[in-house]
Amino acid sequence: MEVMKNPKETARKILNAVKTVPVLSSSAGRILQIIDSSNPSIAALVNIIRNDSPLTANILKAANSAFYGLRSEVSSIDQAVPLIGIDEVVRIALRSGVSDVFEKELTGYKGVAGEFWKHDLRAAIASHKIASYGRIYISPEIAFTGGLLHDIGKAIVSSYLGDVSKKIVEAIDRGVVKDFHEAEKRLLGVDHAMVGFEVARHWNLPEILQNIIRYHHTPSEAPEMFKPIVYCVHLGDILAMMAGYGTGSDTLYYPLDDRYSDFIDLSEDELHLLILEIDEKFEQVNY
Ligand SMILES: [Fe+2]
Ligand SMILES: [Fe+2]
Repeated sequence: MEVMKNPKETARKILNAVKTVPVLSSSAGRILQIIDSSNPSIAALVNIIRNDSPLTANILKAANSAFYGLRSEVSSIDQAVPLIGIDEVVRIALRSGVSDVFEKELTGYKGVAGEFWKHDLRAAIASHKIASYGRIYISPEIAFTGGLLHDIGKAIVSSYLGDVSKKIVEAIDRGVVKDFHEAEKRLLGVDHAMVGFEVARHWNLPEILQNIIRYHHTPSEAPEMFKPIVYCVHLGDILAMMAGYGTGSDTLYYPLDDRYSDFIDLSEDELHLLILEIDEKFEQVNY
């Protein structure tokens, strides 16, 4: 198989492919900048949304969905945004702003179309919840957004994995390679976290999101200032996979770095409870 013979060449091809990824919609980009500000305000979000009619329509649709069970119709964005909350705004903006990427079928990971988004959403919900257990302050909104975006590199890596993912899983089971992340690096010369980081740079995402994506499988390598939030999303990702929501054949072939406890104050019992809570929340928002 070509990819196995020449990882350097494959890495070059993959990194070139990143440059062809469609740019992020300008409203999604601006919304992410607001989330990254020290005090993300609803008013600022409303201003951005108002100038984007498809996004306005999607947000009003969400606010009027059965989930909120309102008697009268929400017709203004000023009412809709506080009602659905910041996480929902980010979710909707990203889904419409980069939909092609998220809707992709991850054939290389033997994933089913739509599963990718579900995994990311679960990881996002988990990361938001974990943020509140931070030993120092961790922004729940950034953790949520990082959770949504952490595996974005897979959308590109997937088409280069070909049919080797089964072989990777066998190699891990035999102890030949450590984990899926390591196997990607060996076979393709680059892994989905690094490719995701390149996508994040291509999209001009805030630095904190770039770092979450880059180090989500290797949190101990993250720059010190980003470690708390990187560990938060690292744990959120693993919890989403433990709950049975991965992106395909690679699920559960990534180790948990238990040094997360330096940054997150969560007992094992609390962790188990959290998995149930994530389930519950996911069922609510996944319409
Ligand atoms: Fe990942
Ligand atoms: Fe993941």
